[in-house]
Amino acid sequence: MMSEESSVTAGERIRAFEEMAAVQKGVAILQHELQEEPKDGHPHIFVVLGASGDLAKKKIYPTLWRLYIDGLLPENTQFVGYARSKLTVEDLKSKCSPYLKVAESEKNKVKSFWEVNSYVAGSYDKDVDFKNLDSHLLKLASNANRLFYLALPPSVYHTVTAQIKACCMTKSGAWTRVIVEKPFGKDLASSELLSKHLSKLFQEEQLYRIDHYLGKEMVQNLICLRFGNRIFGPVWNRDNIAAVVITFKEPFGTQGRGGYFDEFGIIRDVMQNHLLQILCLTAMERPVTMSAEDIRDEKVKVLKATKTLTLDDVVLGQYVGDPDGKTEDSKLGYRDDKTVPKGSKTATYALGCLSICNERWDGVPFILKCGKATNERKAEVRIQFRDVPGSLFPEDQLKRNELVMRVQPGEAVYCKMMTKMPGMAIGAEETELDLTYNHRYEGIKMPDAYERLILDVFMGSQMHFVRTDELREAWRIFTPLLHTIESEGGPSPIPYVYGSRGVKEADELAKKRGLAYSGTYQWRPSKNKL
Ligand code: NDP
Ligand code: BG6
Repeated sequence: MMSEESSVTAGERIRAFEEMAAVQKGVAILQHELQEEPKDGHPHIFVVLGASGDLAKKKIYPTLWRLYIDGLLPENTQFVGYARSKLTVEDLKSKCSPYLKVAESEKNKVKSFWEVNSYVAGSYDKDVDFKNLDSHLLKLASNANRLFYLALPPSVYHTVTAQIKACCMTKSGAWTRVIVEKPFGKDLASSELLSKHLSKLFQEEQLYRIDHYLGKEMVQNLICLRFGNRIFGPVWNRDNIAAVVITFKEPFGTQGRGGYFDEFGIIRDVMQNHLLQILCLTAMERPVTMSAEDIRDEKVKVLKATKTLTLDDVVLGQYVGDPDGKTEDSKLGYRDDKTVPKGSKTATYALGCLSICNERWDGVPFILKCGKATNERKAEVRIQFRDVPGSLFPEDQLKRNELVMRVQPGEAVYCKMMTKMPGMAIGAEETELDLTYNHRYEGIKMPDAYERLILDVFMGSQMHFVRTDELREAWRIFTPLLHTIESEGGPSPIPYVYGSRGVKEADELAKKRGLAYSGTYQWRPSKNKL
């Protein structure tokens, strides 16, 4: 590992956090994965394909910088950018600089980071260009392990991966790994085409399909919460749980990205991948071990038991501008985005009720909801328990228990429960057991999802990556619905106002399927002593 004197703090904190978990569980996942990965002594080269693009400058280079400065990468790691634009490393540096988070104490290391960077310009389809890239990689280190990150539009995935295979595979016993970003196709058929193409070129162990939600702290915590606590296991089933709600909301619209978004819509953008992955981790059976294959086997079983969606299971919405909005953006509706085709029927909000037909979950609605331009930024998993049978208390006093895992912002786990009203009264009132991370783990730095996932690729851990059969099942669940929505005469989304909670018909469907909303309650601050 690189050791950077001025940067130890963040790296140490991450390790300390992981070691703490390791001590408690008896097994350090990080160490476990490192043990699995042979120490072969090869240097590493990380190649960013599409280095001139948005994802590269906003996410990939800032992540590489963070991993570098935190001393988490193997020694002798070099970074190579590749794209069609004729750029220098200086150009790349200027593009990325606004997005690199550099602490005062880290300023002198920025130079050394860019010194291990280089850039090659070339097309995405010509042998000669990829041979040139290969020569460059060989010159940097002839025996290096190579990681290729496809920060590229899906239209060039086929040619680029074929070129990597033909011209840029590693030599001399080193490994090659390829990281692919979503979208992995647009439906079952196109995804299968891509999967078949990739499987002809690479082994499954070489392929890392990123779903960055799998790199988020609370998403990774689901396995620990579920299988590391006796209190949740026995009630985690249809006998005790009334509904599961998995939510993603963002308080901004497409912000000029409408052209891209319109081709995919909110179901493909968020529900079919991020939310479905969270569903898998919430609903799967206990894996035999913590190995990537055992976990992914269980996720696939849940997907296989999940019914294909129909139009009756969903509510779709599209945001319109709020004339009284406080920002210019909020005054604009989705269709006001100049990059969106006129009269577009693409949904920017969706609620889908999924049914898992197995012994544990039969009859429990898994409600996935996601929306752009809503009232807040939020991602969470909410487990709503059944009513208490034969209650001692007046019917309207008891609210259903809920266990909420707040993914973002402000990671938290809290359990909404009933307690006796403090004081002379004997009635019940709703309160919560609260594990809010910035109270309990004050000062801890949470690594970004991309940091964890890119580090996983270096370590050869596929635990948080999507396997081909998972992807196939995910598309099987959504494809008929997507085709119906997009067919001639498909449904029109219901308008909702920018900055609102979304579509009220969505609440109605959730209620019809078994979710009970009893209203927001006010938290009673502890300083209000009775
Ligand atoms: P609420 O009681 O406000 O419930 C929010 C949930 O209800 C969301 O799923 C929301 O959906 C949904 N909802 C809101 N309106 C409706 C409606 N009309 N019909 C159907 N569903 C609706 O908040 P919480 O349960 O999250 O929190 C309860 C208390 O716990 C709060 O006082 C909070 O301050 C406190 N708390 C919060 C913590 C934290 O966030 N870190 C930690 C500990 C306690 P949607 O997302 O679509 O709006
Ligand atoms: C991406 C979607 O996968 O996730 C975006 O394409 C969305 O539309 C983003 O904004 C949300 O990610 P995060 O990490 O900001 O919640």
